[in-house]
Amino acid sequence: MLQDDVGRAAEALRAASRVVAFTGAGVSAESGLATFRGAGGLWEGARVEDVASPDAFTADPVRVWRFYDQRRANAAKVRPNPAHMVLAAWQERFSAFTLVTQNVDGLHQGAGSRGVVELHGSLWRVRCTGCGREREDRTAPLPELPPRCAACGAIERPGVVWFGEALPADGIVAAEAAVEACEVLVVVGTSAVVYPAAGLVGVAAAAGATVIEVNPEASALAHLAGVTLRGPAGAMLPQVDALLVGG
Ligand code: OAD
Repeated sequence: MLQDDVGRAAEALRAASRVVAFTGAGVSAESGLATFRGAGGLWEGARVEDVASPDAFTADPVRVWRFYDQRRANAAKVRPNPAHMVLAAWQERFSAFTLVTQNVDGLHQGAGSRGVVELHGSLWRVRCTGCGREREDRTAPLPELPPRCAACGAIERPGVVWFGEALPADGIVAAEAAVEACEVLVVVGTSAVVYPAAGLVGVAAAAGATVIEVNPEASALAHLAGVTLRGPAGAMLPQVDALLVGG
């Protein structure tokens, strides 16, 4: 029964001091942002993999920028939901809490999370393809596509990780270290099909951590979960948190 599962999740968390949350697009679904593989996940009929790639950018930077400009505009309009808020509160609840996200929307930070490990970069960073200068830019929509570097004039690119690109080394090192050392890994709103990020779930399970999956549908790694909360994160996480606060 779902209520028992919420209780089991709270029990595992209550006994833990080292906790990692690993999130994907589903944690932002209740804020109103489309997931990648759900309905509405296509962009102008294209799969994300066909837009979010270095080859796509080389072939047509304006097209790729239109995709990211739209995502920036969408993300700028929405607010963190109760799932983001609970995860932000958990940084005070556990002596070691690390939030690792595949999301680029900045909603975890908007909810107050600090030190978020952003494995796939951020929509709000922009990087020059010429001189490498990186800057934060929250203007949405951008006045000109593609944006150009004020220092060298080259085209800038979104500060996100594309398919075929390496994850930021410091991010993956920090994420792996946290996951290897954690007692509980809470996997929220990810289909767990994009590697190497999804590999973190196996690392945690192999290291003996209890994996809690929070997702209305089974992810590709659902079999690694010791506790499963089959429901939307914005409803499930506050229920777990209420038990933690209460007891
Ligand atoms: P996906 O779109 O693949 O998966 C979203 C997951 O969220 C699915 O498992 C849904 O069942 C679940 N979900 C939907 N609504 C939810 C809710 N309210 N609460 C909890 N879960 C919910 O998104 P990701 O797993 O984040 O990478 O995708 C991983 C990566 O693929 C992304 O970071 C991005 C993408 O292509 C890059 O751009 C490199």
